[in-house]
Amino acid sequence: VNVFRPHITNLVAYSSARDEFAGEATVFLDANENNWSSSGFHRYPGEEYAALKNKIAGFFGCDASSVFLGNGSDEIIDLIIRASCEPGKDKIVTCSPSYGMYGVAAQINDVEVYDVPFQNDYWDMDALQSMTNPRFKVLFICSPNNPTGAVMKREDLVKIVQSFPGTVVVDEAYIEFSAAESALELVKEFDNVIVTRTFSKAFGMAGLRLGWCVAGRNWKKVLDLIRPPYNVNVATAQEVLALDFQAVISQVATINNERERVIAFLEDQDKVIKVWPTESNFVLFEVGNAKRLYQELVDQGIIVRDRSSQIPNTLRVSVGTPEENDQFMDVLREKL
Ligand SMILES: Cc1ncc(COP(=O)(O)O)c(C=O)c1O
Repeated sequence: VNVFRPHITNLVAYSSARDEFAGEATVFLDANENNWSSSGFHRYPGEEYAALKNKIAGFFGCDASSVFLGNGSDEIIDLIIRASCEPGKDKIVTCSPSYGMYGVAAQINDVEVYDVPFQNDYWDMDALQSMTNPRFKVLFICSPNNPTGAVMKREDLVKIVQSFPGTVVVDEAYIEFSAAESALELVKEFDNVIVTRTFSKAFGMAGLRLGWCVAGRNWKKVLDLIRPPYNVNVATAQEVLALDFQAVISQVATINNERERVIAFLEDQDKVIKVWPTESNFVLFEVGNAKRLYQELVDQGIIVRDRSSQIPNTLRVSVGTPEENDQFMDVLREKL
């Protein structure tokens, strides 16, 4: 099976000014920047990338040379599809209900989506393990899954990685909230695995747009080849370099405690039909009339996500601060 589209492997990458010179210099007249500027941001990004990758690799225990940075993990999802799937011919595989961008990114690239829906709130292992068509190029496993919160067991993930003909992308946007271990280690063992992570969720940096992934050598090379030269900006790099990762991680326990409080409340409500077990910072629940409840919440200035298009009469609520969660619960007490 060809992992990459044929023309991609033959591509010559754009070589930026910052790529072509490394060393000591004081006068930079190579990139048409404004050297009069005192903005602090008049230079294109350069050495920040290496520093960022080293910090990430050091904290998460992976090899810096296998770390790839993206403008959010959304960019990485798009790059993977574009590198691997021939428009109009190849397919990606999704497992609904899941994160919507896989399908959207595929459609933008004119790549068909083949869906293997969840069965009893878990991935359909039999169906996933019997996929042999070489046109199935990329399979997205979102674990913890958005919007249900389910986590795939490690042994199941390994089975799928071993049987799937293409690349398995494990989207771990919410892994910090889970008791499960990250699949980062799998990349060392299997070259058809990419694990994507993000600073948008537990790390509280959604506005900065920094995602990253760990990929095997061939995939890493291709991602570097096709990414826009300056896809991570200097402001983002500086903020993340200054961030105390350990302090952020300590906050997760508090968020998870709040999550358990929201879950307990929802489970206690007679009119809540189902609460999905979750290992993330959101809770999916089913009510008699999700549309009406959504509107009642909006009327009080509280916005949740209506997921009824994926699972009838469900709302997904992110775990907020204690005060926000109280406000949410107050409306439910009154209007459910
Ligand atoms: C499962 C999942 N993956 C990826 C993303 C994208 O995250 P970002 O592009 O901010 O890294 C999201 C955002 O909601 C998500 O829920």
